[in-house]
Amino acid sequence: MFNKKFFKTIGIILGLMLIAIQFFKPEQNVSGNATQSIATAYPVPERVKVILDNACMDCHSNTTKYPWYSNVQPVAWWLADHVKDGKKHLNFDEFMSYRPYRQYHKLEEIDEVIQEGEMPMTSYTLAHSEAKLDANQKEILINWSKALRDSMSLHYPKDSLEKPKK
Ligand code: HEC
Repeated sequence: MFNKKFFKTIGIILGLMLIAIQFFKPEQNVSGNATQSIATAYPVPERVKVILDNACMDCHSNTTKYPWYSNVQPVAWWLADHVKDGKKHLNFDEFMSYRPYRQYHKLEEIDEVIQEGEMPMTSYTLAHSEAKLDANQKEILINWSKALRDSMSLHYPKDSLEKPKK
């Protein structure tokens, strides 16, 4: 039963499947739409922008820079899933479409995920070692998020920055 011919047949079937799935490419996240970008309404200093571009925007914006291997299935499906999930939670290019309380809450979460080293995701920094944040870069992002929250607190009534009770 498990002779050479068996393994050869399995090999050929797997090979054909691998070729077949190459034709099912997920849509890429490259719309580039940034009309509601956080930078249209809040200050994003260059030193912050550089870090966000390098470490966050591939999954939290409308523009992902795809590496060559992202064209290979099933890698593309896996990446597309991360991007979709990341954007659903936080999209810097759609930040201004969020209600103020949600913006405020996302800024708090940015602070948290950086402090706890949850972002950028490890599976990402394994392939993008340049996206790993050092202590200085973390501090820059945290201070930026704090400064934006402080300025929001000055501009909005307190209850508009709290989650509405249902
Ligand atoms: C490889 C894709 C990827 C990269 C790069 C990435 N994220 Fe994420 N991020 C996700 C995914 C997926 C989620 C949602 C699932 C989770 O929380 O693990 C998420 C969740 C978050 C959340 C939590 C939002 C919520 O609703 O809980 C914040 C805040 C966040 N990311 C900020 C960042 C920041 C800041 C960076 C850059 C320093 C970054 N992320 C880099 C994929 C990514």
